[in-house]
Amino acid sequence: MKVFICGFGTVGQGFCEVIARRRQFIRDRYGEDVVIVGAMDSRSYAYDPNGFDPERLVERKISDKRVGDREYTDSVQVLEGIDYDILVEVSPTDVKTGGVGLKNIICALENKKDVITVNKGPLALRFSELTDLAKRNGCLLRFEGSVGGAMPIINLCRENLVGENICSLRGIFNGTCNFILSKMDKGQPFEQALKEAQQMGYAETDPTNDIEGYDSACKIAILANTVFGRDVTFNDVRITGITSITEDAVALAASRNMVIRLIGEVSETKLEVGPRLVPKGHPLSISGTLNTAQILSDLAGPITVTGRGAGRLETASAILSDLVSIMDERVKPQ
Ligand SMILES: NC(=O)c1ccc[n+]([C@@H]2O[C@H](COP(=O)([O-])OP(=O)(O)OC[C@H]3O[C@@H](n4cnc5c(N)ncnc54)[C@H](OP(=O)(O)O)[C@@H]3O)[C@@H](O)[C@H]2O)c1
Repeated sequence: MKVFICGFGTVGQGFCEVIARRRQFIRDRYGEDVVIVGAMDSRSYAYDPNGFDPERLVERKISDKRVGDREYTDSVQVLEGIDYDILVEVSPTDVKTGGVGLKNIICALENKKDVITVNKGPLALRFSELTDLAKRNGCLLRFEGSVGGAMPIINLCRENLVGENICSLRGIFNGTCNFILSKMDKGQPFEQALKEAQQMGYAETDPTNDIEGYDSACKIAILANTVFGRDVTFNDVRITGITSITEDAVALAASRNMVIRLIGEVSETKLEVGPRLVPKGHPLSISGTLNTAQILSDLAGPITVTGRGAGRLETASAILSDLVSIMDERVKPQ
């Protein structure tokens, strides 16, 4: 299987490391290798039909600050001109337009390539168009890591719980907000907790997407479409962020044995993200950067999953699980 990677930052490089670490597993399971035929960052790309050593590719990016020798202006033109089977799309998320990721995914699907992405923008804005395009062209489009990073949720609902009627799904889908709210539980004001999140590398310099609830809303839109078969976009989600939560509000919640958490909730009728009071000790009251989701279904009852919502290897582990599911279909295990 020939894989090309669009976006070579934290996740793209983590994916290369995972491929290197699971080389023998893939060989044993399929009798062939996953060949990384190239990768692209914001300015350059590398391509070799015979493949690269994934660890070398990462070393080159770190030492030269660029992944390849070739410059480009239009990523679609690059994708049109190379040979690959699977696109791993991990360029930056753009919740307004879908960004370059949207163009890359459409290009790959139109050329009958399978796609794995954790880029939320394209999925939260143009889900039905992308899934229709994939179906029409006989392609597989997988995106487990787009919601909850390493925490299994999409495939859990679609595969393990396939016969269930899922009534609702709610959870904490943004580790940065949860870190800030956990710090506020300990008496820190919002601004100070945000600063600490930035110093720890959890929050970006511009934290808008996290603290305004946009990142969680993307995930809720993706879950609505995949788990509930709805046809919604990011713009349909009722969103309230955490910026107006005061120390007084957190203290008042604590006096009633509650915490405030940013909860995303989706059902046949609900589609919202906002701060909610959660009783201390409830599965959704967790502290720190973890993600958690509670699935409520008619036969199984409540099921809670918790895991790391972000991280180099953690997110790449979800891409690996999508890769294995595609290879199971395309190559078949030995
Ligand atoms: N980090 C996580 O744990 C995590 C978890 C779940 C989902 N995600 C999603 O995964 C994606 C990647 O996240 P990340 O943390 O790896 O981001 P990142 O570290 O900022 O890396 C982004 C990469 O995309 C490249 N890039 C920028 N503009 C591009 C363009 N126009 N065409 C092609 N490549 C371009 C960047 O190039 P340069 O290297 O030249 O700057 C960089 O290599 C995002 O959509 C994010 O929302 C991340």
